[in-house]
Amino acid sequence: MDGRDLVRSVKVVGSAGAAQGLMRVRAAWRRRRADAAGLPARGAERARVPGAVRGVEPGPGGGVVRFARSELRVMVAVNGAVFWGWDGATAEPSYALAGGCPEPDPRAVLEPDTDGGWRVVAERVTVAVSRHGAVEVSTPGGVTLRRELPPRWWEPVGGGAARWMQRAEVAADARFFGLGGRASGPRLRDGTYRLWNTDPGRAFAPGDDPLYITMPVQVVVADAATHLAFYDTTWDGTLVLREGEEGAGSGHDRPGTSEVRADGGPLRCWLMAGPPARVLHTWASLTGAPALPPAWALGHHHARWGFGDEQEVRRIVDGYRVRGLPLDAVHLDIDHYEAHQVFTVDKERFPKLPTLAEDLRREGIRLVSIVDPAVKAERGNAVFDGGRAENAFVREASGRLARGVVWAGESVYPDFTHARVRAWWGGLYAERLAQGFAGFWHDMNEPVSFTAFGESTLPRSARHDLEGRGGDHREAHNVYGLCMARAGYEGLRRLVPQERPFLFSRSGWAGMQRYGGTWSGDVATGWPGLRASLSLVLGLGLCGVPYSGPDVGGFDGSPSPELYLRWLQLAAYLPLFRTHAALRAGRREPWEFGDEVLGHARVALVERRRLLPYFMTLAHLARRTGAPYVRPVWWGAPEDRALRDCEDAFLLGDALLVAPVLGPGADRRAVQLPRGRWYDTVTEQVYDGPGQVLVDAPLSRIPVLARAGAVLPVRGADDGLELEAWAPRRGRSGGGLLMPDKGDGWDEPEVERYVSRWEGRQVIVEREAEGGAVAPSYPVRVRGLG
Ligand code: NOJ
Repeated sequence: MDGRDLVRSVKVVGSAGAAQGLMRVRAAWRRRRADAAGLPARGAERARVPGAVRGVEPGPGGGVVRFARSELRVMVAVNGAVFWGWDGATAEPSYALAGGCPEPDPRAVLEPDTDGGWRVVAERVTVAVSRHGAVEVSTPGGVTLRRELPPRWWEPVGGGAARWMQRAEVAADARFFGLGGRASGPRLRDGTYRLWNTDPGRAFAPGDDPLYITMPVQVVVADAATHLAFYDTTWDGTLVLREGEEGAGSGHDRPGTSEVRADGGPLRCWLMAGPPARVLHTWASLTGAPALPPAWALGHHHARWGFGDEQEVRRIVDGYRVRGLPLDAVHLDIDHYEAHQVFTVDKERFPKLPTLAEDLRREGIRLVSIVDPAVKAERGNAVFDGGRAENAFVREASGRLARGVVWAGESVYPDFTHARVRAWWGGLYAERLAQGFAGFWHDMNEPVSFTAFGESTLPRSARHDLEGRGGDHREAHNVYGLCMARAGYEGLRRLVPQERPFLFSRSGWAGMQRYGGTWSGDVATGWPGLRASLSLVLGLGLCGVPYSGPDVGGFDGSPSPELYLRWLQLAAYLPLFRTHAALRAGRREPWEFGDEVLGHARVALVERRRLLPYFMTLAHLARRTGAPYVRPVWWGAPEDRALRDCEDAFLLGDALLVAPVLGPGADRRAVQLPRGRWYDTVTEQVYDGPGQVLVDAPLSRIPVLARAGAVLPVRGADDGLELEAWAPRRGRSGGGLLMPDKGDGWDEPEVERYVSRWEGRQVIVEREAEGGAVAPSYPVRVRGLG
């Protein structure tokens, strides 16, 4: 322990309460000892590069190119994605892939290239492999999208996992996005980004990195095309990004660069290119369709760490009801557990939880339960005893149970990388369902162990099953949350097969959308936190995770009335719309900030409810196409550079552009518009893009613009469906989609397509049907007629 560690542990003992504090010091020592004994010592290493090309072996969709000191497998899949893997790496096993490796494209063949290299020409991309092992992916028109230089490995002389580094160049005009949930995006500026899921241990703001969800997934947007590159390794690593510069030094472009370093794992990459919608579609076909939430999960949620008891929950719910504020779900945090133990209830403070759940359900409000992975290590705790009998918990290399410290004290951790353990854990949700819970909020699953010094997680040497392959926490850490989500999701599918599981998880990895969504985690109260909230949602959406949202008002402290309102107004247009705060934070109920804020908050809440059919349609579209609900403004026009650099607005589906207020004192704001005509949805004022315009943003609302011609399904005054159409430009037409959804269950609604067009002096909306257009079966309201 060095001096800093000592100071930190003394502070921990002081602030966490003496008993927890000592536990945290012990946990840190235990972790350090476990790794000293269980991790291979870091000795001498040998560096290696592939060397010169020696030969090839054509195979389906590409083949293997052999080099003096490595070999490279290249494969173009039928979905258009390109795979390459070094040193014999194949696409599987992979925690990211949904249905295994896609079929190779039989038309893609390996052929000799100039200069002794090889290439694969496919419909959407050409992959060229140089004779020293650079891999270059270009468009069919010959523009280079990405050039991966020959990789480098560092191998321990005594054997063990090799570290590697892979540097790539992209266009000078390219912008980087993604890498999971990052607070300082959405555009990822020059810097180092860590790939290790981390609880920052306090409320975070832009600049805090890494956070709970990291993914080696980068979306690169350039004039020539958009592409997504995914380095499929779960090991700890870093990514150094540097944007390029056009006409840098003596008029030559300096390319953008991405440099990935990983502590181990296969060196393999997937790449998909094209317009953003196609890129995300291909990504979803590879890693799985986003889970479809039940309709209620698209409403407004109120959470609180420290409701305290049933009376307080009822008081809050009544508060919403008497003020006519829509509420769809209430979340119970760890304070409803018995002594903080997962899958238990504090019977004194919540004596009749099922009755409470039933009462709320009658008012259309669902109860959601927090679920932490750590299990209190105490005999008599049924989950601990049951898990021990199942041999479910992670062990140290020595064979002892790996213990950490979380809220309940000394705890153990289920090994979710084991199918049998997932099945056991999934069964435990039966207890939650019996209590009346309808949804699940996975927390602390990076996983967290509070330690007085060192990393706040399990020892890196801790053993995991890894689907029978066996390995340690260095490989399992980043997929711990993903595998927990899988356990919960599959358990719920078994326990309540007729319902769509609702689950969202703080940590996760590529592919987590298959099981549910996520949320911001502990975003700091303050204007920078508000900005970070949007960055996270946009970045995660581009990584294939479309359902997320922040803690409205921020997690800690007390927001000013203005900040609270602006946060609520933004979140009303994000997929997860949830108010939440920490144990000792200030109030977050809309009526706690004065009458003016209450009035404006009501407008935002009511508007969200009105937009539910649109949100539900976006959820279906996300599932079918991989397109996130919340999209960067460049989504439809990535070649528009001003849009590429716009980070303070977003598209909600095709129809709406939302321009939140992210700073104090605003009553107007500049908005960067994509091409076309846009209407202010409140004043119906017309704006024409592309270009920047100034729009009104009084405290009462944030600017939301509708695209001319858009048709969107909304909830009408009598709660039935209604179509809201925005007049197309004269001489133009428009349209929109509706997926009529029953609210839950597995029926596949048919897509209803609507078109809007001028007929004489009227705007007509019709439904496309076989044999011609028909009148819609819902009332239509045309807006923007001036
Ligand atoms: C950390 C989570 O991020 C937060 O949302 C929650 O309230 C606390 N854990 C307590 O469970």
